[in-house]
Amino acid sequence: MADPRVMLVTGGGSGIGRACAERLAREGCSVMVADRDADGGRDTVSAIAAVGGTARFTLLDVADEACVVASVAATTDAFGRIDGAINSAGVPQTAQPVHRLDAEDWLRVIGINLNGMFYCLKHQIAAMLETGGGAIVAISSAAALKGLLNSADYCASKAGILGLVRGAAVDYAEQGIRVNALLPGGSDTPLAHRSSASNPALAGTLRVPMMRMSSPAEIAAAAVWLVSPDSSYVTGASLSVDGGMTIA
Ligand SMILES: NC(=O)c1ccc[n+]([C@@H]2O[C@H](COP(=O)([O-])OP(=O)(O)OC[C@H]3O[C@@H](n4cnc5c(N)ncnc54)[C@H](O)[C@@H]3O)[C@@H](O)[C@H]2O)c1
Repeated sequence: MADPRVMLVTGGGSGIGRACAERLAREGCSVMVADRDADGGRDTVSAIAAVGGTARFTLLDVADEACVVASVAATTDAFGRIDGAINSAGVPQTAQPVHRLDAEDWLRVIGINLNGMFYCLKHQIAAMLETGGGAIVAISSAAALKGLLNSADYCASKAGILGLVRGAAVDYAEQGIRVNALLPGGSDTPLAHRSSASNPALAGTLRVPMMRMSSPAEIAAAAVWLVSPDSSYVTGASLSVDGGMTIA
């Protein structure tokens, strides 16, 4: 039976966000795909429509609070409500050690990955309070729990998300809004390939017991579970989906 829930996916134009949008649509949700890359976002919507799913696209820069407000309004205007969100928009590290990291690059990575996540949670939660609840996933990273070479900006942004998620989970537990963090390890996406090309020394420092990257679909499976009623007693969690990288 079709799932009547309305879902917003940031970063839905590529990689993990696209896999989440496609899986949610396959399960019958109405999906708002939000991304700063209009071509990528529209491609996701076309792929969903081609297999009979329901999706729309809205242009979004998560680093711009007014734009985040507009993405939530676009979702409620199109589908009447918002029941869940998977926030996947993000950028990789600048690939410099700390003493060579320009403040401008630090602020750009924090501005998108952490401040952007704050704007998304703030305005998605406000909309969910109007309709009595919902569930949100913030895509963090294994980098939140490990020191990765030449990646302090990225590690800090992804670790900050864990604190934001725990605080929000406590603030809204009584109002029926669950907020969880998902921590992927290496996943086979354009971001992962850009990141290893710009930071080649990093790969040699990582041990992944399962000896492979994930597919974006494997990350999406966990994210979709976290926004589903099947995870109804899970909030404030940091769920690692990383082939054992964090514990090795
Ligand atoms: N791929 C990995 O190995 C990996 C590992 C851990 C965590 N992650 C995290 O997963 C998330 C998704 O990454 P991915 O690998 O799918 O990357 P990706 O580059 O394939 O997709 C990221 C999407 O986010 C969009 N985006 C970037 N900045 C944005 C902004 N300011 N506003 C709106 N959209 C923006 C991009 O246009 C792109 O469509 C990111 O938060 C990333 O940090 C990825």
